[in-house]
Order: sequence, then structure tokens, then C-alpha cells
Amino acid sequence: MSTSSSSSSFPRTIVSYTLSTSLFIVFFLCSVFLFTRRALEPSLSPYHADIPLPDPRPPIEPLPSKDLNGKPHDADADLTVDTNPNQDEADPRRDGDVAVNTQPKATEDSDGAELAAKPDLEDEGASRKEESVEENNAESAEEQAVVEKLRGCDLYKGSWVKDGDEYPLYQPGSCPYVDDAFDCQRNGRRDSDYLNWRWKPDGCDLPRFNATDFLEKLRGKSLMLVGDSMNRNQFESMLCVLREGLADKSRMYEVHGHNITKGRGYFVFKFEDYNCTVEFVRSHFLVREGVRANAQGNTNPTLSIDRIDKSNGRWKRANILVFNTGHWWVHGKTARGKNYYKEGDFIYPKFDATEAYRRALKTWAKWIDQNVNPKNQLVFYRGYSSAHFRGGEWDSGGSCNGEKEPVKKGSILDSYPLKMKIVEEAIKEMQVPVILLNVTKLTNFRKDGHPSIYGKINLDGKKVSSRKQDCSHWCLPGVPDVWNHLIYVSLLIQAHS
Ligand SMILES: *[C@@H]1O[C@H](CO)[C@@H](O)[C@H](O)[C@H]1NC(C)=O
Ligand SMILES: *[C@@H]1O[C@H](CO)[C@@H](O)[C@H](O)[C@H]1NC(C)=O
Ligand SMILES: *[C@@H]1O[C@H](CO)[C@@H](O)[C@H](O)[C@H]1NC(C)=O
Ligand SMILES: *[C@@H]1O[C@H](CO)[C@@H](O)[C@H](O)[C@H]1NC(C)=O
Repeated sequence: MSTSSSSSSFPRTIVSYTLSTSLFIVFFLCSVFLFTRRALEPSLSPYHADIPLPDPRPPIEPLPSKDLNGKPHDADADLTVDTNPNQDEADPRRDGDVAVNTQPKATEDSDGAELAAKPDLEDEGASRKEESVEENNAESAEEQAVVEKLRGCDLYKGSWVKDGDEYPLYQPGSCPYVDDAFDCQRNGRRDSDYLNWRWKPDGCDLPRFNATDFLEKLRGKSLMLVGDSMNRNQFESMLCVLREGLADKSRMYEVHGHNITKGRGYFVFKFEDYNCTVEFVRSHFLVREGVRANAQGNTNPTLSIDRIDKSNGRWKRANILVFNTGHWWVHGKTARGKNYYKEGDFIYPKFDATEAYRRALKTWAKWIDQNVNPKNQLVFYRGYSSAHFRGGEWDSGGSCNGEKEPVKKGSILDSYPLKMKIVEEAIKEMQVPVILLNVTKLTNFRKDGHPSIYGKINLDGKKVSSRKQDCSHWCLPGVPDVWNHLIYVSLLIQAHS
């Protein structure tokens, strides 16, 4: 018994000892486990929540290093194409008949308002969402009041007012996206009054330009300029005016790493903090350039006025589109129209350039109607930008150097090119509303805004060279900044219509 009891008591002690040790160990492990979880959780989750993952960049597309024709791009041609706007003034009597209306169809269109509705808010947390909605309401009430004052005001009828406080929107030489050809101050231009003009509509004041607000309106969207080198001029301006709204300016970049040069026809700039892009697609005519082989075995250029330009696949992806064409329709092969214009497989031996322009715009209008969804896309057409050549044309010694003030009076102020009337006709017949950025008249004033001899470095500034002057494009900062200011104002109006 005692043996059994002693023999059984010894193992019993061991068993209870082992049991309590095991229990302690289990208890200890559990506590460690729980403690670790509690300690780790709070430090892990905010890490996930607060550090945003970088957005996947848009897929990189192979870029043609050559022109759409397959020819290397003719850099000089890009710079010097133009004509005096007076040439286009075919029928000045009709000017008074055309209704003065700032936003032809767009303001009547309620669909357009959805563009500013920021659908991406839905993805965010509920409390954050409420907060933003409240903020947005306060903002939009303020905005509403601003927009109310613009009602019935023709933004494009007015005058230039000197205002060194608001303009320039960025300092000369401060923006890395200005092409050499438009960087007038760096190229030696000494006078600076041309930098300080702001546009003042007769019936209202433009709301002050607000780059941050403009970027907010572009959040999650893409803005694309499609057209010739005048639109590249405007594109560079757009990059510069929006850049001023960035706290950290290194957070915008060209997604393929390209610097802007006139030889390249496609750029995509990403604004990382606003998840938006600003893009340029070169398309001189908006319709399709091609080539044909002649009897001598050479190739000649052709223009298919019934087919949309090859780059149209890119246009489809943009939320906001800004088109232009015009300056390439007035010179050389385009004006002569010999064995150049094409419809279907037929090449016209001779065809009128104005009629070709009209048909090309119809082709463009039809494409817009068939491919653009006005619920989430908005289309602008930027009107003809006037040139100011004295004593000759762009290719025959015309000049504009030494102009330091805008035109004050004279017939040039009222010139409205036939091309613009054709644009208005095309837009009127479209189903998709197009906002006409009717800048022709405001550019008529600005004979002082062109690069003239400062499209290239000219540091002595006095010697006037005999080479071609650029009296078509614009110095930056300069006139295209105002066009972009008008796009900003149009977006404000659009959001409240
Ligand atoms: C510009 O817009 C931003 C964002 O909408 C706003 O917070 C800011 O107050 C505006 N700045 C001015 C000077 O109005
Ligand atoms: C960025 O914008 C695109 C639309 O362009 C949208 O699909 C995407 O969800 C946005 N990303 C973020 C992080 O908001
Ligand atoms: C772009 O320009 C910058 C500054 O001029 C230069 O450092 C850089 O190498 C250029 N990049 C390319 C891809 O040409
Ligand atoms: C555009 O402006 C011109 C004046 O330069 C005017 O004659 C024309 O009617 C305007 N077009 C529209 C659609 O407002």
C-alpha cells in the first residue's frame, strides 16, 4: 500500500508539476501571441492605409520616330507655316450677322454637368466622403456665385488690360516645358510689357486663374490637345500654367521620359498628385495624310479629306479634347490643290483648298459625333490664331519685330477668317456639343506677342536678320496662357450649367 502509495505519490507529484509547467507555458505563449497581435496590428494597418501605392503608369506605346507620312518630320516647316489673317477675310460683310454667343451649344446641354461630378469619390471611405461632399458644397456655392456673374457674358468680346499683378501666370524662364522657339526672354527679347496683359471681356471679369482649382477639375481625367504646332504652343503653355499649382513640381513628368521637341508628335504628362494627364497629339489637318507614287517613281503627299487622321485612336481615350487646324491649309501644295486632295481612291487633279477644308471639318465633325460620349467627354475647338506679318508673308520677308504694344484700332481687329465661319457651320450641325474657344479676335490685337526674331537665340537684339521671322506662334509666357485661362473658365461654367 505504502509502496503503492509512495510509488504512486512520486509520479503524481511529477505529473502535477509537469501539468502546471505546461499550463504556464501555454498561458505564457498565449499572452505572447495576443500581445504580439495587439502590438503589431495598429502599426501595420495605418502603414497600408496611409502610404498610397504608385499608380500604374499608362502602357507605353511604341512611338514613331518619323512623321505619319513615313518621312522624317520637317522641323522648319512646323515653325513657319502661316499667312496673314487678312487673306482669309473673304466676306467681311457677314460678320455682323453671326450671333454672338459664347458657349454655342454646350451650356444648354445638361449632360455636360456630369463631367464635374467626380465619380471617383465613391471609392473613398464614408467619413472622408461626407467631409469632401461638405467641402465641395461650400466650394460649389462660392463657384456658383462666380459663374452667375458670367451668365450672358460674351467672354471673347472685350479688350486687353495691362495687369502686372495677375499676368504673367509664371515667370519667363521658370518653366522647363517651354520650347526654345517660344522662350523669347531667354533668346534675348528685352521688352517685357507683352507679358502683363490680361483679357477683359466687356460684360464681365474673368475669374482669376487658379491652377490648383484647374488641377482639381482635371482630377482622374485626361486633357488632350490635338492639332498643329499652334496647339503645341498652347500645350506647353498648359503644362506651365498647371505646374504653378503643384506644391512639389517634381511630381509631374512625361511618362515616356521625352523632352518636348518639335520633331516629336506625341507627349503624355502625368500629374501624380491629381491622377491626371495632359497630352499632345500632332495632327496638322485632323484628316489623313498619305502618299502616292507618281509616274517618275517618286512619292507625292496626298490628303484624304474624307478620312479621319491616323492618330484618332488616341483621341478616343481623352476626357477633354482641344482641337485646332488651320495654318497648314494656306500654303504650298495645300493651297494649290493639284493632285493632292483625295476622296475614296480618287485624287482630284485640282481642288479648291477652302472646299477641302470644309469637307475635312465635316469628316472631323462626323467622327466626333460617332466616337465621343458627351456624358464623360468634352470637346473644345480652338479658333484660328492670327498672325501679324508686316511687309510680306511668312516665307517672303514678313516681319513683326519691334512691336511692343497690342494693336489699338484698325481693320485687322475685325478680321474674322472664312475658315472660322466654316468651323462655326460644322459645329452647328453636330450632335455632340462643341465649345468654340473663339480666340481669333483677341489674338488680332496681339501683334506684340510673337517671337519674331527671338524664336532662336539673338542676344544682341538689334541686328535684324534676313531669315524668316516667326509672327505666327507666341512667346511663352504669353497669349496662349489666356486661351488656357479661358478653358479653365469654360470648365467652371460647364460644371454649373
Ligand atoms: C484656388 O483653388 C483652391 C482649390 O479649389 C482653393 O482652395 C483656393 O482657395 C483657391 N485660391 C484662390 C486664391 O482663390
Ligand atoms: C486615376 O484615374 C483613373 C481614370 O483616369 C481611374 O480609373 C483610377 O481609379 C484613378 N486612380 C486613383 C488612385 O484615384
Ligand atoms: C531632357 O533635358 C534635360 C535638361 O535639358 C537633360 O538633362 C535630359 O538629358 C534630357 N532628356 C532626354 C531624354 O533627352
Ligand atoms: C466669334 O467671334 C467673332 C468676333 O471675332 C464673332 O463675329 C463670332 O460671331 C463669334 N462666334 C461665336 C460662335 O460666338
